[in-house]
Amino acid sequence: MKIRSLLVGLVAVGLSSVALAAEPIVIKFSHVVAQDTPKGKAAEKFKALAEEYTKGAVKVEVYANSTLYKDKEEMEALQLGAVQLLAPSLAKFGPLGVREFEVFDLPYIFDGYEALNKITQGAVGQQLLAKLEPKGIRGLAFWDNGFKSFSANSPIKKPEDLRGKKMRIQSSKVLEEQMREVKSLPQVMAFSEVYQALQTGVVDGTENPHSNLYTQKMHEVQKHMTLTDHGYLGYAVITNKKFWDGLPAEIRTQLDKAMVESTVYANQIAKEENDKSLEAVRASGKTEIHTPTAEEKAAFKKAFAPVHKKMESRIGAELIQSIYKETGFDPAKL
Ligand code: LMR
Repeated sequence: MKIRSLLVGLVAVGLSSVALAAEPIVIKFSHVVAQDTPKGKAAEKFKALAEEYTKGAVKVEVYANSTLYKDKEEMEALQLGAVQLLAPSLAKFGPLGVREFEVFDLPYIFDGYEALNKITQGAVGQQLLAKLEPKGIRGLAFWDNGFKSFSANSPIKKPEDLRGKKMRIQSSKVLEEQMREVKSLPQVMAFSEVYQALQTGVVDGTENPHSNLYTQKMHEVQKHMTLTDHGYLGYAVITNKKFWDGLPAEIRTQLDKAMVESTVYANQIAKEENDKSLEAVRASGKTEIHTPTAEEKAAFKKAFAPVHKKMESRIGAELIQSIYKETGFDPAKL
């Protein structure tokens, strides 16, 4: 009787064929940040919703904190089909050959979440995700994190304070140019290695949204931090196209629904999580937090302004212009 009513229930939600399979479909979701971050929490949300909506026909295994793969390996693993879901930072798609994603790294291009979401949740965002298809990757969503602050062991109140400093960056040519523009020395490094590199002095400083800095305890090894908000860090949730297309249609429908809902959740909690982390850094008393004056902020904007023009040939002038247009951004105001 119990089995019969279970069957009726499954047919009702359209999961009859797959849910009867003995083994659930396993989706490995690998990421590099702590569980207690916007991305970490959204991944857990997706797991809960996906398992609920498929009535257990899908099992999502979330691997946080680079426990399964680090930055570079995770992209390869996805293409090989060893992992099914990732949410890499938009600054990490260059090595894959999709340079356009680096447009998100242009300093000060987004004035805040509202301007940003016009792109990520609009037509330009969809066009960007489509660029992943020839690489065998399907882009499912954009998830927010937040706006970056610089940190180091000496104060960074003006662009000149970054001069000569070894700064850890993600693998983006735009970020590399950003740091070179102020004569600092950019060092590309996997996220999992940053804490130790800061602790041992392999690098002097870095840039992060507050949730990343705090949950990796970087504030314990960085005495100063400046709320420059000079750039954005967020994610594209991606899957192996062959895997996704090969899923039974009724399962895919439920997973798409779970993804839409976890995306709303991710983008709802991002700012709040970052604000909480900033307060936690402040409360720790380990890092001096500097809020730049209007003049100081203007000096950072001016110093980084040339990056937009210099990166045009890499990213595409048309794409950059379409973002300016959509968000109302005026590069002359930098
Ligand atoms: C970084 O490497 O700094 C970030 O991309 C980590 C992340 O996934 O937020």
